[in-house]
Amino acid sequence: MIRHLNLQLDSFHNKVSYFNKIISATLPIFPPIAIKPFAMRYVAGETVDKAIDTVKELNDNGFLSTLDILGEHVNTREESYDTRDAYCSLYNRLGNEELNCTISLKLTHIGLEIDQNLARDNLFTILETARECEKSLTIDMENSPYTDITLKLYKEAMEQYNQVGTVLQAYLNRSINDLNMLMSPHLKLRICKGIYREVPEIAYQNRDDIRDNFIKLVKTLLKGQGYAEIATHDIFLIDTLETWIKNKRIALDRFEFQVLYGVPMGNRLKHLLEKGYKVRIYVPFGEEWYPYSVRRLKENPNLAGYILKNLFRKSS
Ligand code: FDA
Repeated sequence: MIRHLNLQLDSFHNKVSYFNKIISATLPIFPPIAIKPFAMRYVAGETVDKAIDTVKELNDNGFLSTLDILGEHVNTREESYDTRDAYCSLYNRLGNEELNCTISLKLTHIGLEIDQNLARDNLFTILETARECEKSLTIDMENSPYTDITLKLYKEAMEQYNQVGTVLQAYLNRSINDLNMLMSPHLKLRICKGIYREVPEIAYQNRDDIRDNFIKLVKTLLKGQGYAEIATHDIFLIDTLETWIKNKRIALDRFEFQVLYGVPMGNRLKHLLEKGYKVRIYVPFGEEWYPYSVRRLKENPNLAGYILKNLFRKSS
């Protein structure tokens, strides 16, 4: 009887997983209007006002925040200047409203694909405004063709500004060497698994190898110098690192936990806050919400469930 039940459950899970895979593969061909109801759980809205409201609410509940204006790979210099100006005015707004919030940006959004010097100039203009507003900046890490230049610009920025950080991806084999190369008291690094598809020649493909490297990177950073931003929703990683941090008596001002807005975490974040840890929520917003949301939805194991729920809600 139990065996029969288990077989039925297995068959149900296989069907759900199959359905998830089909939805995930076909997601990019869904029109934005069809994706929007699911997408908005991961995005604070399309306007600065909506983003600011979200940050206020997060701050009121004890969370720190980092804002990202959605978009990447601009094609013209003018677009890169528009993005630069949007980030500068966002810093001014954050400064005026005294919000506990930093900014995260992508170098291709400020012109990296057009000209490295253009991206560099835009980055340094934004950093200057960040300094005036006494706020920090994190340079997000994009796919592997941009790793070298991102780290080069980060190193240069780190020499002039102490409120700048970047990201290392645990799936890249090179990350531990990059970490050792960057090690310094001003180092500020977000460690994440990595979101892009990278080939086996340069990146771990297996979940356990990526987890092992994630743990190794955070431990190396915290045994060395600098500040660690532990960016993951993986409860195994959060538990493992939290235990290690406690045992090693790592000071609370050496690290923080980070998650993406909208990813369900149960009570885990509240518990981290109760223990006195800092928790920062990465909040994307803006008109270019579609590609970001498709990436998030593809990572969501309950994708088929959401779609079905929405279908039933609409038909009732
Ligand atoms: P994993 O993917 O294993 O997720 C763990 C669990 O979380 C899953 O089992 C699932 O239950 C849940 N979960 C995850 N995503 C979900 C979703 N969308 N909906 C519902 N549940 C979900 N990457 C990069 O390459 N460059 C960068 O600069 C950044 N920046 C960044 C900032 C912050 C604050 C975070 C949290 C993440 C990033 N990332 C990133 C993305 C990161 O590399 C990675 O792709 C995602 O965090 C997913 O990996 P996890 O470590 O969460 O584990």
